Amino acid sequence: QFLQLRTPDRCFKIVLCGDSGVGKSSFLERFCQNTFNEKTQVTIEIGFQMKSLVIDSTVISLQIWDTAGQERFRSLPHSYFRKADGVVLLYDITCEKSFQSVTSWLVNIQEVDIDQSAVIILIGNKEDLATTQRVISTECGKRLAEDCGAFFIETSAKTGHNIFETFDYMARTLQ
Ligand code: GTP
Ligand code: MG
Repeated sequence: QFLQLRTPDRCFKIVLCGDSGVGKSSFLERFCQNTFNEKTQVTIEIGFQMKSLVIDSTVISLQIWDTAGQERFRSLPHSYFRKADGVVLLYDITCEKSFQSVTSWLVNIQEVDIDQSAVIILIGNKEDLATTQRVISTECGKRLAEDCGAFFIETSAKTGHNIFETFDYMARTLQ
């Protein structure tokens, strides 16, 4: 709480993207409110939330944009990636199609002349379903991330697994 009262030392813009249903809004809700809903609304309007982290006594403020995964709601795909310091690209480890879409998301991002120094993190979300419903192996995720020069991590918005770690990594890398 005291954190909010201190002026941040640094501020970064992060954009979440990936197919509809991979859990972008849930990911952000877990990080910002520490809550989770089994039933969510499809995102139709992009918006952002602010959250501060303290890294080695530096207050880092993250402005995190949640985008719409559904094609018909992607109105301004270009403007929100421009000037992004970091991109968090999610797929669902139980959904093959969302993994296949990663490449086209990367192409989209590059087309928007995103800053070459922008940090990209590839996320395999819904890790809590790994034992029963996994279709994309950790190795496949890692390999794809390596191919596109991204950091890789598996997370669960449901349990909170690796959510904080993702933004901590992002903030440390950008700092
Ligand atoms: P769009 O807004 O349409 O782009 O989708 P989204 O990527 O924001 O997905 P959303 O966060 O709305 O989540 C879709 C569904 O997946 C919801 O039913 C969530 O409860 C569920 N979900 C999200 N993250 C997880 C997770 O880590 N584990 C499990 N088991 N379910 C999850
Ligand atoms: Mg959403």
